[in-house]
Amino acid sequence: MERLEMLYEGKAKKVYKTSEPDIFHIVYKDDATAFNGVKKGTILDKGAVNNQMSAILFQMLEEKGVPTHFVELINEREMLVKAVKILPLEVIVRNIAAGSLAKRLGLEEGTVMASTVLEFCYKDDDLGDPMINDYHIAAIDLATEEQVALIKKYAFTINEVLVNYFKERNIKLVDFKIEFGVYKGEVILADEISPDTCRLWDAETDKKLDKDRFRRDLGDVEDAYQEVLSRLK
Ligand code: TMP
Repeated sequence: MERLEMLYEGKAKKVYKTSEPDIFHIVYKDDATAFNGVKKGTILDKGAVNNQMSAILFQMLEEKGVPTHFVELINEREMLVKAVKILPLEVIVRNIAAGSLAKRLGLEEGTVMASTVLEFCYKDDDLGDPMINDYHIAAIDLATEEQVALIKKYAFTINEVLVNYFKERNIKLVDFKIEFGVYKGEVILADEISPDTCRLWDAETDKKLDKDRFRRDLGDVEDAYQEVLSRLK
């Protein structure tokens, strides 16, 4: 399949059209940003890690009944995906308090919560991705009620599957952000699942193995990304 013109360049990926109208070609970049693009840097081989890790997790989730945009890997840092229209929602699932939730609720990072928290943010960089709820989604027509119900169902299933999968690899899944798209009328999981979009802590030491190492200048960023991928393979 031939790669055609670039459709869109995001902060972490480039999306290209292909000779097949229903298929996009994604190239994962090493560029890293944080705090809505204010902090910029490079994480060597991040693109390769995020591409391969997403491919592994999308295939595993498909087997568990969650439809995803994944079609096939092209090489270490490129994949083919279904040509979805991304819903402008960031869906965040949290098992352990960290990051913005720990701050907002005055909880110590690492506090295990009694139940899983699901949050929605409006995916809009100019607005700084504000947190919203089901009423906002309906009021400004970001998704239908049926789509929101399905997204919630998938999000909890994905959490359950991923928590167990990472546990077997000695990693705690603290929280993560996912995005969904619409393809041929169906809601499917899209974007990526990677150390950029998850908080992953070593189960024994609580060492952070994710993008917080970049956000918080903790060092050993590249090693942490490689460590996660090596535990998945
Ligand atoms: P937060 O605690 O900063 O709100 O982040 C929650 C989760 O979402 C965490 O796993 C990191 C991920 N995330 C993204 O993938 N993209 C973002 O732009 C932000 C702010 C967080």
